Amino acid sequence: MEPMSKSFYVTTPIYYVNDAPHIGHAYTTVAGDVIARWHRQRGESVLFLTGTDEHGTKVQLKAEDNDVTPTQWVDRLVSDFWRPVLDTIDAKPDEFIRTTEERHRRGVQYFWEILKDKGFVYPAQYEGPYCIGCEEFKFPADLLPGKKDGEQLCAIHQRPVEMLEEENWFFKLSEFTDPLLDYYQLNPETIGPRSAYNEVVAFIRGGLEDISMSRSSVRWGVPLPWDEDQVVYVWFDALLNYLTAIGYGDSGKSELFETTWPADVHLVGKDILRFHAVYWPAMLMAAELPLPKQVFAHGWLLVGGEKMSKSKLTGIAPEQITDFFGSDAFRYYFLRAINFGSDGSFSWEDMRSRYTAELANGLGNLASRSAAMIGKYFDGELPAPSGYTNTDLSLQDHLANCTADADAAMLTLDFSKALAEIRSFVDAVNGYVTAEQPWVLAKDPEQRPRLATVLYTIADCLRAIAVLYHPVMPQATEILWESLGGPEALGPLADQDVTDLGWEVLPPGTAITKTEPLFPRLPEESDGEGTA
Ligand code: ME8
Ligand code: MG
Repeated sequence: MEPMSKSFYVTTPIYYVNDAPHIGHAYTTVAGDVIARWHRQRGESVLFLTGTDEHGTKVQLKAEDNDVTPTQWVDRLVSDFWRPVLDTIDAKPDEFIRTTEERHRRGVQYFWEILKDKGFVYPAQYEGPYCIGCEEFKFPADLLPGKKDGEQLCAIHQRPVEMLEEENWFFKLSEFTDPLLDYYQLNPETIGPRSAYNEVVAFIRGGLEDISMSRSSVRWGVPLPWDEDQVVYVWFDALLNYLTAIGYGDSGKSELFETTWPADVHLVGKDILRFHAVYWPAMLMAAELPLPKQVFAHGWLLVGGEKMSKSKLTGIAPEQITDFFGSDAFRYYFLRAINFGSDGSFSWEDMRSRYTAELANGLGNLASRSAAMIGKYFDGELPAPSGYTNTDLSLQDHLANCTADADAAMLTLDFSKALAEIRSFVDAVNGYVTAEQPWVLAKDPEQRPRLATVLYTIADCLRAIAVLYHPVMPQATEILWESLGGPEALGPLADQDVTDLGWEVLPPGTAITKTEPLFPRLPEESDGEGTA
């Protein structure tokens, strides 16, 4: 059994710092941030990790191209782009790991020393294709024929692979073919979505071959403790970040490590599924460490039908979108519009129309109209409800159902469904306002108690909506929470439980105020920058 205090541990990939982030990286990080906040609002202790992958050929070459040392390059990229982008998208990781940090290097050396002592590492000759874009030793099935005779291209980067011939150290991956197959047959839920599971199992069934775990021609990396002329192959350095960030290393097992590992979910793009669902669990099995509970491979953001990519310079910078729509809308849009697990593309027009329909008109207007009516009819003091009608009660039922469904969807990383559930409730509340016509009730003094019940109901629904949407749209919901007098009446929004919303929670008498709009009107012309 796990100790009671096991944290929910969610990770993103650590990104290569060969260039600045684009919206593909922001997409994974937003998903991680939303799931972390959701679990926190379920009352769980959470550790959300992200960071940067700073070693390897790709980064080294980029530094050389720019006439700086690799250290200068990575320090600059991290401080000018990779840390700031977290603010751009309003992501709040608990830990940010850089593979150039001492804690990481030491942990990597410690890990591989153990695997070598256990007999899982031996010297051999590697000869074969390598894609620098992927930093990956390729198999024939991973390659496409190039234009020139005999040229072979990486199917992901569509660029020629290098032929490598190196004396290096190998990891006995082949020994894990059967253990991994057995494990996945017993635990199919540990890889999501189902298509990713099938891909991984098919790959392992084909038989695993031992794989080079070091590079002799690369200098920029973590030196092998037993052979300082070689560095650890960048992937077998990077994957260990999930351990080294939580205190794994030579100083004994830390309490943090004990209460955090195994990860509950590694969020990755489908480009790096094999590393996370084949090589990584094999490494952990070799070290006799527990395996992550799930690896989830989401789809790609596409440009012109191809994966948006740093190497191909097709990236859209996140701030091009957040400067116009704001970070909340960015977070909402990508999780709402694309099924997590499928590919999708960004469209300026689609984002604009969802912003207007679902956010500004759907939620923003509801919030401002409601505050205005309570202001006008009750001097801004939340009235007490009296006697619910069937219409009121069915709204309460709707809330209970949509909360349960949204929670279930979030727990399976079905963001789009979770957001559709919450939105269906927003729509229901809007429908309720239209049907109950508080402005008509307000004209008849005898209807004053009914008016009070209707406006109370709307305000308490908005209270629930603020709580449910908070993990996705932290800023707009904070404005809403202020407007509802939430901070004084109920405490911080981030402390409100998403699974236990209750009813009649907002106390009558609470001061309701008009605030700035949750989702400001967009300027007529999009600045677009040609990205539409
Ligand atoms: O692979 N669509 O780093 P990386 C969606 N350092 N997501 C995308 C994307 C796109 N077009 N492009 C990138 C590496 N991503 C390694 C990882 S982990 C131990 C080491 C996201 O900079 C997605 O999460 O190439 C993808 O898997 C990741 O960024 C790759 O980032
Ligand atoms: Mg990549």
